[in-house]
Amino acid sequence: MEKLAINGGTPLRRIPFPSRNPYGQEEIHELTEAINSQNLFALSGNKVVGFEKRFAEKYNSQFAAACSSGTAALHLSIAALDLDPGSEIITCPVTDFGTIAGLIFQGCIPIFADWKADTYNVDPDDIERKITDKTKAIIVVQLFGNPCDMDRIVAIAKKHHLPLIEDCCQAYFTYYKDKLVGTFGDIGCFSMQQSKHLCSGEGGICITNNEKYAMRMCLFRDKGWENRGKWGPRAYSFLGLNYRMNELTGAVCLAQLKKSEFAAKKRHELGMLLNDQIKDVPGINPAPVGPHGYHSFWAYAFKVFGYDAELFSKALSAEGVPSSYGYTGKPIYLCTEALTKKKTFGTSGYPFNSQYYDKMIEYKEGLCPVAEKELTRIVTVGIHEYWSNRDVLDSAAAIRKVGAGLERQ
Ligand SMILES: Cc1ncc(COP(=O)(O)O)c(C=O)c1O
Repeated sequence: MEKLAINGGTPLRRIPFPSRNPYGQEEIHELTEAINSQNLFALSGNKVVGFEKRFAEKYNSQFAAACSSGTAALHLSIAALDLDPGSEIITCPVTDFGTIAGLIFQGCIPIFADWKADTYNVDPDDIERKITDKTKAIIVVQLFGNPCDMDRIVAIAKKHHLPLIEDCCQAYFTYYKDKLVGTFGDIGCFSMQQSKHLCSGEGGICITNNEKYAMRMCLFRDKGWENRGKWGPRAYSFLGLNYRMNELTGAVCLAQLKKSEFAAKKRHELGMLLNDQIKDVPGINPAPVGPHGYHSFWAYAFKVFGYDAELFSKALSAEGVPSSYGYTGKPIYLCTEALTKKKTFGTSGYPFNSQYYDKMIEYKEGLCPVAEKELTRIVTVGIHEYWSNRDVLDSAAAIRKVGAGLERQ
């Protein structure tokens, strides 16, 4: 058996993987136009508006509202629903904090539905089990670019008359059956943070076919300013923030939109190739792909059995394949003191310990046992659209080598 690099052997891969260089002449061209226009304010420019229009067209959606981040996009979507404080929103346990920050600011209570084993995605049955008379919405996360079971989730949302929000921050141009994720629910939310398929450093966008939601999202991102553009007494129709996108970001997003479909498709092909290459390796489950899903591999996450995921990942990195393990480490409800210690607004504990919520809720280990356990077995590889098939084959060979070289418990 070949000696592992982590034990002093020769690394399987000795040349670096290609770096991801998402920006080029197209972005420079759009940015130059924005600068030359002498206006970087979206509401009087054409880059952000143009991006919204084209993004909506790509997704066959009637409306789009751009904003400053994915977190802002998720906040916009909750603000659009105009819920009372104390409303419960069922969501997914493994995600970025941006999925839930906005709902807590809106006075809502996140309720976490567990993963369905071996899918890295939410279990529709657990969503349904967790619905109460206080449930007012569902937010699903299309994690890593792998679609959830949208047939079941849409049916549950319809049956219980609940608005459905899709967090697609990691899932651009990702299909479930023949339809893009982000268009199944009432609102789809996206992030343009640097690591995303469509990136501009920071940014966000929401899509919807509901005019009322679209209007509220556009107002909410602009402080609720109803009569903007008119001189004289100002009118702010409800509590809002400044979550506007600026023209520089809009310019980059416009250029990126032309590339991101390719990025998602290429990642899909590379990820599926890697899945195929490691499908027979003992102690390894390739990245799960739902039965009707088209995975766009924001990250390639496989599962190890009988190995320590941290050690496996370190051994893989030593072989020259940069790798990480555990994704967020723990479900998001264990990662933030806003939930574990209810550190929200001063010492109030609002919205949890407040007149608006008469249940005692605790965010602690055991809430979502499947997600808690499976996270500890995840190893990730940073696949991206600049990789070649050779890069995938080397990664697969390194995974096989590490699998054979490490002792299984
Ligand atoms: C699933 C998910 N939701 C929400 C967010 C928040 O996006 P942003 O970082 O742009 O605020 C991210 C990004 O990290 C994400 O991956």
